[in-house]
Amino acid sequence: MKTIELSINQQVHRIEVDPEMPLLWAIRDIVGLKGTKFGCGQGLCGACTVQLDGQAIRSCQTPVGSITAKQKITTIEGASTRLEKIIQAAWIEHQVPQCGYCQSGQIMSATALLKSNPKPSESDIENYMSGNICRCGTYSRIKSAIQTAAK
Ligand code: FES
Repeated sequence: MKTIELSINQQVHRIEVDPEMPLLWAIRDIVGLKGTKFGCGQGLCGACTVQLDGQAIRSCQTPVGSITAKQKITTIEGASTRLEKIIQAAWIEHQVPQCGYCQSGQIMSATALLKSNPKPSESDIENYMSGNICRCGTYSRIKSAIQTAAK
């Protein structure tokens, strides 16, 4: 066990944890933020996506001990910048979610995409979002919402 400081949504959390624990479980089970979801646990579905210093990462594949206190983690609960609000409004406008399970990961990836590429082409969106799986098949609505948010 080790004491680790995590900066999540601009709040510092000091936790006692096995440094090998995936960040996903530290976020959900120790810090108690349940918006980040477990899907495959193998880096294949994107349900667990959060941002680390603005980059989309798979929290199920990131050992909590690999993160420093200076790095900023953002989860869906903390997605409240102007861009993130625009994206969430576009999600509502296009009624994107069906079951909703994958959507926090989808939104965290979409946000990271628009931060790095504010005017993505259709293929940019398809390529960037291809690691986020939606079992309900909401892909066309996700793409439309990203295009609306990028306007
Ligand atoms: Fe992390 Fe599927 S749960 S990618």
